[in-house]
This record gives sequence, structure tokens and C-alpha cells, in this order.
Amino acid sequence: MNCGHYEGVDERVRTGLVTDEISIGDYVLGGGEIPAMAIVDAVARLLPGAMDEESGHEESHAAGLLEYPQYTRPATFRGLEVPPILLSGNHQAVAKWRREQALRRTFERRPDLLAAAPLTNAERALVEQWMAENRVGDGTYLDDMDKRIG
Ligand SMILES: C[S@@+](CC[C@H](N)C(=O)[O-])C[C@H]1O[C@@H](n2cnc3c(N)ncnc32)[C@H](O)[C@@H]1O
Repeated sequence: MNCGHYEGVDERVRTGLVTDEISIGDYVLGGGEIPAMAIVDAVARLLPGAMDEESGHEESHAAGLLEYPQYTRPATFRGLEVPPILLSGNHQAVAKWRREQALRRTFERRPDLLAAAPLTNAERALVEQWMAENRVGDGTYLDDMDKRIG
């Protein structure tokens, strides 16, 4: 692996030799090694056999939202409980809880994703309710959310 450092690689390499140019985000790293590793890792885990067939289906970005919170055993750890719904054995209720958590998490951390996320009317109404509850200051934040959600 040979990656450009300092200002980057000579422009003639970019225009005449490379087939693709990929940025992994709006920040500057010292060189291309970490971006190259990030791409190899993100792509290799999608190859057949790299993980359970089902595992990737509900991960962040798979359905346009961030993933819901994860819990494992034990049910109580240092006084912290797994949400009881997850222990109920009611698969439909668990799926509903997870979907709402994914929506809430996306709303809080990456509201920009909601504009393109396939939401039901009920989910959109829920997001609008959260937006109203989160109104701050002169409403600029709310207006901005309106614009981003569309
Ligand atoms: C210090 S950076 C050069 C930054 C460049 N002068 C600029 O202002 O955009 C050196 C090299 O690291 C790699 N690099 C840095 N940040 C990157 C990112 N977010 N995604 C992909 N490659 C990146 C690129 O290969 C880049 O040419």
C-alpha cells in the first residue's frame, strides 16, 4: 500500500492513472493508509461468509437509520437493567421497540439522515412530535430540522 502524504499525490496521477477517488469523510488525515484500511474493512465484512447472513440487515445505514441500542447477557449488570421488553419473548413488541429506538437515535444523532429514510406516516408524525418537544430558543433549530426532514 502506497498512499500520498503531505499535500497529496501529483494531480497527473489523479487525472491519468487512477480509476476512482474516494473520500471517507469531511476531515483530513495525514495519509491514505487509514482510509484504505477503512474501505477494505467495510467491504470485506459484506463478503459471503464474513458474518451471519442476518447480521447486516439491521445495522446502521442498512435501512437509512442508525441502529437501535444493543444489549446482551446478563439481564442486570452493576444495577443496570436490560429493557424488560427485550426479555418479554414478544418478537413483534421487540421489533417495534427497536424500530422506535433506531428512529429516536437517528433523530438525536444524525437528523440529516431522516430526510431520505423511508418512514411510515406514523413515524414521521412521531419525529414531528419530537421536533416540537425539542423546540429551543427562537425556533431556528426547529426550522432547520424542518428543512432537513422536508
Ligand atoms: C494530508 S492529506 C492531503 C489533504 C489535501 N491537501 C486537502 O487539503 O484536501 C494526504 C492524503 O491523505 C489521504 N486522505 C486524507 N484524508 C482523507 C479522507 N478523509 N478520505 C480519504 N483520503 C484521505 C489522501 O490520499 C490525501 O492525499
